[in-house]
Amino acid sequence: MGEIVRLQKYIAMSGAASRRAAEKMIDEGRVSVNGEMVTGQGVKVEIGNDRVEIDGVLVKAEIKKIYIALNKPEGYVTTVKDQFDRPTVMDLVSKEIHTRIFPVGRLDYETEGLILMTNDGDWANRVTHPRYESSKKYYAVLKGVLTIPELNKIRRGIMLDGKKTSPAECEIMEIDMGMTLVEITIHEGRNRQVRRMFEAVGHEVKKLRREKIGIVELGNLREGRWRYLTSGEIEYFNKK
Ligand code: URA
Repeated sequence: MGEIVRLQKYIAMSGAASRRAAEKMIDEGRVSVNGEMVTGQGVKVEIGNDRVEIDGVLVKAEIKKIYIALNKPEGYVTTVKDQFDRPTVMDLVSKEIHTRIFPVGRLDYETEGLILMTNDGDWANRVTHPRYESSKKYYAVLKGVLTIPELNKIRRGIMLDGKKTSPAECEIMEIDMGMTLVEITIHEGRNRQVRRMFEAVGHEVKKLRREKIGIVELGNLREGRWRYLTSGEIEYFNKK
């Protein structure tokens, strides 16, 4: 379903007239929606679905495409609305972005780090579709010391739900106070994949942060903050 907006906003978005001028056109009986002349203010239309004409000429509104990277803190869900009323990633962007956008893929409630958001459904599909295999890099803090045989199992693939995970790049960064910090890059996005992979070799994931998707990096984006993607970052997923 397309976004629903007031008729005068739709006309302004199409570039045909300002909102004020559009209201006047509506009063003058020059505007029709789906072939019916509009006789008063307050009519709403759906972008991409309703047919709007001024003096019999079709006008088309387009929603500007938005692509952002957000540093999700722990304790936020990556759905648009949560059934338990927990904070959502929408709460972090809605003050500044007034177009309806949605998260691309997901991160667990407890996981922090990079999540992309957009209003471009085709682009979102390209980023998440298994066929395109966008790489995703994470830092994970594991309980216990990860052994070399366990590390190799993670690299080769782990059976999850009867299907082996595809080969992953994984390096031990640091071992400290009985915990292991690892960097892991996977090319799939199965539910709770990183947590379940390490659990399968006997290590609970105490902390998980996504650092990178494709060529998009978290960099020094502060927790809870977002930035627009560059055109190169957007195009990277179009070319895949
Ligand atoms: N893997 C997980 O286990 N959790 C995430 O949020 C992302 C990847």
